[in-house]
Amino acid sequence: MKIVALFPEYIEGQENQLLNTEKAIGLIPFLEEKGHELVILTDNNADLDKHLSDMDVVISAPFYPAYMTKERIEKSPNLKLAITAGVGSDHVDLQAASENNIGVVEVTGSNTVSVAEHAVMDLLILLRNYEEGHRQSVNGEWNLSKVGNHAHELQNKTIGIFGFGRIGQLVAERLAPFNVKIQHYDPINQKDNKYSNFVNFDELVSTSDAITIHAPLTPDTDNLFDYNVLSRMKVGSYLVNTARGKIVNTNDLVELLTAKHIQGYAGDVWYPQPAPADHSWRTMPRNAMTVHYSGMTLEAQERIEEGVKDILNRFFNSEPFQDKDVIVSGGQISSASYKSNKGK
Ligand SMILES: NC(=O)c1ccc[n+]([C@@H]2O[C@H](COP(=O)([O-])OP(=O)(O)OC[C@H]3O[C@@H](n4cnc5c(N)ncnc54)[C@H](O)[C@@H]3O)[C@@H](O)[C@H]2O)c1
Repeated sequence: MKIVALFPEYIEGQENQLLNTEKAIGLIPFLEEKGHELVILTDNNADLDKHLSDMDVVISAPFYPAYMTKERIEKSPNLKLAITAGVGSDHVDLQAASENNIGVVEVTGSNTVSVAEHAVMDLLILLRNYEEGHRQSVNGEWNLSKVGNHAHELQNKTIGIFGFGRIGQLVAERLAPFNVKIQHYDPINQKDNKYSNFVNFDELVSTSDAITIHAPLTPDTDNLFDYNVLSRMKVGSYLVNTARGKIVNTNDLVELLTAKHIQGYAGDVWYPQPAPADHSWRTMPRNAMTVHYSGMTLEAQERIEEGVKDILNRFFNSEPFQDKDVIVSGGQISSASYKSNKGK
């Protein structure tokens, strides 16, 4: 079979990294031994298009996605499986994959702790005004009022979690020792748990001091945090997004940060990815953005490697995938998290 995988270019000296063209999460010997052809790409545009006509499997990570649009899927007559080397399969048009009977499978759970830790870090960075404190230390400044004027404790704040699945719940568990009030909105998981109470969407938006987004990108969440929703957040509140960039409207966020309605924004997810050098989120006020790496710790990369090999072994042996990993199968979207939940 012909397997096409997209990885970032190997850089000498970065020997720990598994998700690159050189290590390719161990797929080079793994597939060679089984007699399959592996094509490794670094460019998700023209290079990928060259292989659509005869590839059987496509593999890419959300950090560096091969955007499998409807158009590309329709030009891929042999394609049977799209594997996400990580969590979050929105870079594949799931509806088109269903209609063309292409399986979409990911390594669910592989990096959930990594992302939850990152989200907690982002909340602390924003509330404590770390970015301004760090900027002054690098630039030779000592302007205490400027940093202190927006430095807060996390304690006693109300933290809203949008999307209370694996990562959302891990975030709640990790935040609890900070003595915060935690609330969540999730159309499927509406139960209170030990750490967090369910509230409706409007309450989450209007009463949280900080919101952290952990829902998948679906037709319901795409562009959901637009001017209308962002302007209903508390004045001076914070937003963290380690889920997907497209859940937040690019220009509306910049406008509300500039107007100081939203005090700070942090996260690692952008649209498109890689983000262009002039993406407005790189330079917007009071941002603590990083490139997309929260789920790419070395521990997570090891689990991703193991998970992708497990998926390929099952595929070659015509064995069922692990239920948790399946997003699309048998011509339909089977993951509850990705099924449309009309009305948010
Ligand atoms: N930044 C990263 O490196 C990184 C890594 C892993 C995952 N992610 C993102 O985080 C997302 C969540 O991951 P997870 O492992 O917790 O997934 P999960 O499937 O366990 O949980 C997602 C939750 O979102 C809920 N949800 C679905 N539609 C919703 C809506 N309209 N409004 C609110 N909630 C909704 C689901 O009911 C589910 O409980 C992934 O889909 C992915 O996009 C990012």
